[in-house]
Amino acid sequence: MKKYNIKKICCIGAGYVGGPTMAVFASHCPNIIINIVDINKKRIDAWNSKNASDFPIFEPGLDDLILNFRDKNLFFTTDLQNSISEADMIFISVNTPTKTKGIGAGQASDLKWVEASARQIARFSKSHTIVVEKSTLPVKTAETIENILISSQDKECNELKTFSVLSNPEFLSEGNAIKDLQNPDRVLIGGEDESAIKALSDIYLKWVPEKKILKTNIWSSELSKLAANAFLAQRISSVNSISALCEVTGADIQQVCKAIGMDKRIGSKFLNPGPGFGGSCFQKDILNLVYLCNYYKLEEVANYWQGVLNINNWQKSRISKVIVNYLFGNISGKKITILGFAFKANTNDTRQSPCISICKDLLEEGAHLSIYDPKVENYKIDNDLKDLKTENQDYVENEENRVWINYPSVEQAASESDAIVILTEWEEFSQIDWEKIIKLMRRPAWIFDTRACIDYDKAKRAGFNIWHIGNSLLINK
Ligand code: NAD
Ligand code: UGA
Repeated sequence: MKKYNIKKICCIGAGYVGGPTMAVFASHCPNIIINIVDINKKRIDAWNSKNASDFPIFEPGLDDLILNFRDKNLFFTTDLQNSISEADMIFISVNTPTKTKGIGAGQASDLKWVEASARQIARFSKSHTIVVEKSTLPVKTAETIENILISSQDKECNELKTFSVLSNPEFLSEGNAIKDLQNPDRVLIGGEDESAIKALSDIYLKWVPEKKILKTNIWSSELSKLAANAFLAQRISSVNSISALCEVTGADIQQVCKAIGMDKRIGSKFLNPGPGFGGSCFQKDILNLVYLCNYYKLEEVANYWQGVLNINNWQKSRISKVIVNYLFGNISGKKITILGFAFKANTNDTRQSPCISICKDLLEEGAHLSIYDPKVENYKIDNDLKDLKTENQDYVENEENRVWINYPSVEQAASESDAIVILTEWEEFSQIDWEKIIKLMRRPAWIFDTRACIDYDKAKRAGFNIWHIGNSLLINK
C-alpha cells in the first residue's frame, strides 16, 4: 500500500463547517499546515481580525481555538492558487444550497460551487492530491468530481496529475460544533483508495478512537449523510405533529416525550417540540433526497420524505395562526415582541430559521415587531425580512414607519408590546424577570412559548396569559 505523507491541507470554504472543522484539525495536528481559503474576502478578513467578536461565526469554544492556532498552523486566506498547489489533501467545504432555477429547481442541490472548486483543484494542484468531499452532496457526486478533475486539467501541462476522491461528510450541529468535532459519534470515510483512506483516518486517529471511524464505499457515505439528516428532521416533524394533537386533547407534550423517550429504542434526544426545524441543511437535504428518489422513480419514497417537510411548514404557519387567534383575531397595529431569531440557540445563523416565516406572517397581519436576539446581527434580520411584499413596503426606507425594529435587550423590545413570542431557546430567556417585564407591557399581556423553555410559575405569578407548545392549558386564561 502506498503511503501518503500529509504535510499541508487546504480547505475550500471558510463557513460554518470549514472554519470550526479545520480549527479542530489544527489543534490536534501541530505538524500539518492548514490553509482555509474562501472567495469571500470579507469573510476571510473577519476570520483574520484581532478581535474575536468580529469572527463571522459565533460558536461556543471556537474563538479560543482560532486565537490559539491562527497564524501558527492555521491560516485564513483568499490565495486559492497557492493553497491548492501546495496541498497534499484538499477538503471541499463549500455551500450546496437548493437550486433556485433550471432543472430540479426547488429540490436538487446547486453544485456550481462544488464544480468550481473541482475545476480550480484540477487547474492548480500538483502531482497526487487527495480530494475530500466535506460538503453534503447528492449520491454519485464523487463521480462528477472525479470526471472534472481528470478532464479539466490543463492540456499543455506536462505533469500527470492524479487524484483520490473521498467522501467524509460532516455531522456537526451548530451551537455544538466544537464538542461534536472533538468527540464525534462517528467519523465516516467513503472511498476506494485504501492509502488515501488511511491518510485521512490517521488524521482523525489523533483524537478519535479507531472504533468510531467507519469506512464504507463512497456511495454509502454520501447517502448516509442525507439519510442521517432526514431521520433527524423526521423526528422533529413527528414530535411537532404530536404537539398539535396534545393541544386539542389535553395531553402534555413534555409528559408524552418523557414517556416515549424512556423506551431505549426511541431514546430521549431530539424530541423537543418547537416552531419547526430551521437551519441551512435539513430542508435542503430532504429536498435533495426527494429529488433523488423521483429521479430513480421511487415516487412513494419521495412522497414519504416530502411529508416531513410538509409538517414542518404546517407547524410554522400553525403557530402564526395561534398567535393571531389568541390576540382576539386581530394583530393589526399591535406591537409583538419576538425573542430569538437564530434557527436554534448558541448560533448567530438565521438560515431557514422558522422565525423568518413566523415574523413574515405576523407582519402580513399588520403587527409591528420588536425583535431581540442575543447573537444575531441586525443586518441579518433586516435581510431576512426585507423581501416581504406588503402594503407596508416603505418600512426600510422610512425609519419612522418601520414595522420591525431590532432592540439590544429584552426590556427595550418588550416595552409597550401586547405579546411576547419566544422562538429560539436561548438560555437567558429562562432567566427573564417576568415581574419586571410585564410592567412595561400593555394588558392583557401574553406569552407564546414555542420552545417550552421559560419558567411558567414565575410568568404566571407576574400575571401573564401563557400559551405553550404542546399543551392545551392556557395559564391564567
Ligand atoms: P457556508 O455558506 O457557511 O460556507 C461555504 C463557504 O464556501 C462560503 O464562505 C463561500 O464563500 C465559500 N465558497 C463557495 N464557493 C467557493 C469557491 N469556489 N472557492 C472558495 N470558496 C468558496 O456553508 P456551510 O454551512 O459551511 O456548509 C458547507 C457544506 O457543509 C454544505 O454542503 C452543508 O450542507 C454542509 N454541512 C453544513 C453543516 C452546518 O452546520 N452548517 C453541518 C454539516 C454539513
Ligand atoms: C443538523 C444535524 O443535527 C447535524 O448532525 C448535521 O451535521 C447538520 O444539520 C447539517 O448537516 O447541517 P443543525 O441544523 O446545526 O444540525 O442543528 P440541529 O440541532 O439539528 O437543529 C436543527 C433544527 O431543528 C433547529 O431549528 C432546532 O431548533 C430544531 N430542533 C432540534 C427541534 O425543534 N427540536 C429538537 O429536539 C431538536
